[in-house]
This record gives sequence, structure tokens and C-alpha cells, in this order.
Amino acid sequence: MIVPGGSSQALAAALSAELGEPLAAVTYDRFPDGETYAAVPEFDAERAVVVATTDSNDAWVELLQLQDAVREGGAREVVTVLPYMGYARQDRAFEDGGPVSARAMARAVSTGTDRVVLVNPHETSISDFFDVHVTVCDAAGRLAEPLPGDLTDPLFLAPDAGAVELAESACAAYGRGETDYFEKTRHSGTDVEVTPSDADGRGRDVVIVDDIVATGSTMSEAIAHLNDGGAERVFATCVHPLLARSARTKLERAGVERIVGTDTIERDVSAVSVAPVVASAVDAVEVA
Ligand code: R5P
Repeated sequence: MIVPGGSSQALAAALSAELGEPLAAVTYDRFPDGETYAAVPEFDAERAVVVATTDSNDAWVELLQLQDAVREGGAREVVTVLPYMGYARQDRAFEDGGPVSARAMARAVSTGTDRVVLVNPHETSISDFFDVHVTVCDAAGRLAEPLPGDLTDPLFLAPDAGAVELAESACAAYGRGETDYFEKTRHSGTDVEVTPSDADGRGRDVVIVDDIVATGSTMSEAIAHLNDGGAERVFATCVHPLLARSARTKLERAGVERIVGTDTIERDVSAVSVAPVVASAVDAVEVA
């Protein structure tokens, strides 16, 4: 059975259709003292696929509760899909005495599952923090699907060197175009500077591809540079459309043509599902 976390209900339904496995009924509740309570009252399957984006502290707790509930319900195998893994960017201690938060979360999740599926984690190396087998999947290719088919001389651009492979995946899935990247310097959590590359966006449709749009600082800087340089249209695409705080406004003010994200985080810009990619990853490994 596919068991949805509260933040991943649309993706869980899409995955259920993709895998041909029933979608479990789940109740999400809260006690008067604020504690969350997530339950799967009629769980009845050998395998539970718990699909839960952890974009809030409550979502993390809910995930642990769902893992426990399906074990109580008799699941012999538990697969945990983290479409978007919160805390993944805290993958090292930033100061003496600081936590490696991604590792703490990974360890907690590992106690309730046989294996894990991650979609475009910020760094693939965080899979080492889990105590169970991890399958990492790349959904960047899915971002090509909602794009118009008539892009003019398309340039798929990564806003920093770390996202080049994502731009290449999206370009390959689109079927034509060139890829390049900007250099990025981050001065603070919200202050980002991007330096244009050799690629000339003048008169072209440019598709910026990143793993996540969080505060929107990176993406809006890149959009503004491209528009200043005479790009025809600039599309902002990302796997995880977190769109925190004023991110949406920053992108609009920078002159974005359209924002396209997947359903790892369910937003109004989630124009395409990662379900086919996740389904392949779920079925790829059998745990005895
Ligand atoms: C950073 O390396 C990531 O790939 C994203 O570019 C970054 O997390 C986006 O964050 P923000 O939207 O806050 O600039």
C-alpha cells in the first residue's frame, strides 16, 4: 500500500496509480497539547511505501509515526520515500558544537524502514548518513515535459556549477538545446551573486534548472542577469519548489516567464509529477 504523509498526498496518489498499489487511508490529527498523530487505520498489505516530504518539523514526526503505524499494521517491508528531504542542506556542522542535522534525521528515519528513496537530495553524499539502503533518483528530466515545444534556440542553464548535471538531464529530456552554468557566490542565506558564463542568452529562450528554489535569491539573480542580457524568455525550473518567504515575488519581479516545479513539494507551480521516476526506484531493489 502507498501511505501518504500529509504534505505528499497528490504524489502518493500518482505513485499509487503508477505502481498499481492501493492508496491507504490516513488520518492526521493533533492533540490539544500540539502533538501530532498520524495513523493508518485499515492498513492491509505486505509492503508499505510511505511517501512523505519533510518540509516541516511536524512532517518529520508524522513520517516516523506512519512508519511505526504500518509496522503495527503488519507490514513486512517498509519503503520510505522522501521526495523532498528537509534538513538535507545541513549536511555538516556549521560551527563548533553544531549538529549535522541531516545525519540526525537520516538516522531517525532509518530505524523505521528497510530502505529509503531520495529524489535529488542537495548532495548525494547524504545517503551515507542512513543506516539502510538508499536509492537516489534524478527527476530533473521531468522538468522538460511542461515546457513549450517551440523554445527558440534553447539554453539550459544551471545557476551554479553544482546544478550542471540537472541542466543536462533537462536538456536531454527536452531533446535539443545547449547547456551552460553561472558561477555563484553566496554571501549569506539570502544574498547571492551570480556571474554570467560565456553562454550568450541574447535572443534565446533560457531554461534555468536548479534542485531547489528556497528563498529565490539564486534564481532571481540568474533571471535578472539573463533578462538584462537580452534573453527572449526565461523559464525558472526546479525539482523542489520550496518557494519560502518572498521567493515567488522575487522571481516575478526579476521577470520570469514561468516557474515550473515537480510535486516533491506540492505547490501551484508543480506542473509535473516525479511519480514515474520514484516508481522505478521503489521497484528497483527488493529487500528480503
Ligand atoms: C544551492 O546550491 C542550491 O542548488 C540552490 O541553488 C539553493 O539552495 C537555492 O536557494 P535560494 O533559493 O535560497 O537561493
